[in-house]
Amino acid sequence: MPINLRIPGPVPLPQEVREALAQDMIDHRGPEFASLFGEVTEGLKYVFQTKHDVLILTASGTGGLEAAIVNLLSPGEKALVVINGFFGERWFEIARAFGVEAIPLRFPWGLGAEPEDVRKALIKAGDCKALLITHNETSTGITNDLEAITKAAYSIENPPLILVDAVSSLGAIDLRPDEWGCDVVVTASQKALMAPPGLSIISVSPRAWEAYEKAKLPRFYWDFRKAKEYALRNQTPFTPALSVLFGLRKSLKLIREEGLAVVFDRHRAVAEFTRQGVKSLGLSLFPDEKWASNTVTAVRIPPEFRADELIERLREGYGIVVAGGQGALKGKIIRIAHIGRVTAEEMAQVIAALKELLPCSRS
Ligand SMILES: Cc1ncc(COP(=O)(O)O)c(C=O)c1O
Repeated sequence: MPINLRIPGPVPLPQEVREALAQDMIDHRGPEFASLFGEVTEGLKYVFQTKHDVLILTASGTGGLEAAIVNLLSPGEKALVVINGFFGERWFEIARAFGVEAIPLRFPWGLGAEPEDVRKALIKAGDCKALLITHNETSTGITNDLEAITKAAYSIENPPLILVDAVSSLGAIDLRPDEWGCDVVVTASQKALMAPPGLSIISVSPRAWEAYEKAKLPRFYWDFRKAKEYALRNQTPFTPALSVLFGLRKSLKLIREEGLAVVFDRHRAVAEFTRQGVKSLGLSLFPDEKWASNTVTAVRIPPEFRADELIERLREGYGIVVAGGQGALKGKIIRIAHIGRVTAEEMAQVIAALKELLPCSRS
């Protein structure tokens, strides 16, 4: 039975990427690697829509988030953390783990953050070094209005650094670090970049580099300066995840050939198709539709149905693999992802399977 992998990453890989992964190892200090690294960096700058530095770290997305904290902040400094889901909570926990005075600004799960509330909270907290925000909250299926939020943050005196978790949005949903003033944007290879897990990619603005000079947290493996110095020679300080880079070179080429604007439109269309399909079954979306994400659709499972059983039956009977709820949403929602090269036909299969299964999944 073919598998229709509909979790929000790792995402299915295009055939061309899978073929690229089959390549043998190369010398990561040799000329072949330098050319690979240069090509990947250039492709990443296109997808990130940035002229700033783009650093490649061998880690999953969370490693990139931790790297942002240890490179830019100091113990005792304040950071306002926008939290409207599981990954916002993670940002908060990482900051706290390193002794940053993390101030939570919580919004109900399923809603986006209100820019005006962010502005007020920054003023109230006073002297915030950073604003930590999750662009696309994968756990609830919403996208925060990052452009409006950055505008609100820049409207205050001494605006904070803006650190963005874009793990489930970058390359699928429009995000413009330079235009909007995002100082650090973090993503990972296994989502919209359509490569295997293993790399975290981070854009770093000139303002972030200034903060780096003053930041006092200890760092070694995550050190941005080390990564940049090696990147200038088209190398990495430590042994890179070579195979992931082989795949990423190919997937970035595919994205460039299609064009970023077309990729965004395609995600929007497939997401809309999915939302309509879900609603046609009489189910409701978990988030307020105004904020609904174009990469993951969270569906409320009414109490008379068993979400875990539904997930198992989709997997066993149809080869469709969806995700359940995280944290407080466990057992209450299912999440159907449409990140990367996904077609409406693949989403139609999910809707058709749900239609068959729902009547017999009553508890
Ligand atoms: C928004 C967001 N942030 C962070 C992460 C964590 O990424 P990783 O599992 O690659 O560490 C994820 C993973 O799904 C995510 O969706």
